[in-house]
Amino acid sequence: MDSPARRILIINGKGGCGKTTIATNLAVAYACRGTKVALLDNDPQASSTYWAEQRDASLPPVEVVAKHERPNMYQTQSFRHRLPEGTELVIVDGHSNARGRDLESLLRQTDLILVPMLPSSIDIRAGGRFIADLLTHRIYRSFPRPVGVIANRVQPNTQTHDKLMHFLGCLDVPAVAQFRDSPVYTDAAEIGQGVVDMKEIRAARKETAQWKQLISWIEEQFSTEQPVGYSLRMKPRAAQRAETDQAAPDSEAQAV
Ligand SMILES: Nc1ncnc2c1ncn2[C@@H]1O[C@H](COP(=O)(O)OP(=O)(O)O)[C@@H](O)[C@H]1O
Ligand SMILES: [Mg+2]
Repeated sequence: MDSPARRILIINGKGGCGKTTIATNLAVAYACRGTKVALLDNDPQASSTYWAEQRDASLPPVEVVAKHERPNMYQTQSFRHRLPEGTELVIVDGHSNARGRDLESLLRQTDLILVPMLPSSIDIRAGGRFIADLLTHRIYRSFPRPVGVIANRVQPNTQTHDKLMHFLGCLDVPAVAQFRDSPVYTDAAEIGQGVVDMKEIRAARKETAQWKQLISWIEEQFSTEQPVGYSLRMKPRAAQRAETDQAAPDSEAQAV
């Protein structure tokens, strides 16, 4: 039996903290290593989908599955959400307003969770609350998975940076990477690229060590954890159906 695709969820209840930036850049970093990556755009704003539309076909491929799109009358929801054949890794660009059943469904299908956080008092406060809610969530508690925080848009040697680092040091979850506040991220997004694609640009090359560090941490977690997809597949069909119906009335859990 093929190994089911691993799933990474990028999420935070705060908008603008870099979920799409981290999701697209992580997808590129994996694609450049030869991994067959699908980027699942869970945000109705469809930023990842727009990013993928700008991506040049000559670059390492990142398939986008636009989960927010309503199927037309000839397409079932499950068809729209089906992953490309042979997908090894799914990166979910979560949205800030995922709540209730939506959030439950995301958490049920996740092997690892990354929470980007910005170095501002407002973001630190909101991010801290989000992490506390996540770690005490019923679904998370019944099946805990690795969670890592990413400090995004950092400007070393500033007060807010120190404040964020202090806050991250007090958390129960590890801070797994730090990405600089750099226009290279905005430039990359404009053309459907990630900084790992932009080897000829110095500011982009400066970031690659942090992306490598993040991938090493992720791979370390994956080496000791069974993919969540195994438990879904191994269950009898009726049990699977009951579980997924409960989690996602539109059958998204089975499809993606
Ligand atoms: N490390 C970074 N350096 C500079 N700009 C960034 C960085 N991360 C994100 N941005 C910019 O911040 C804005 C919000 O980021 P985005 O990834 O869309 O956030 P979210 O998906 O959480 O709403 C975008 O314009 C993006 O280009
Ligand atoms: Mg976004």
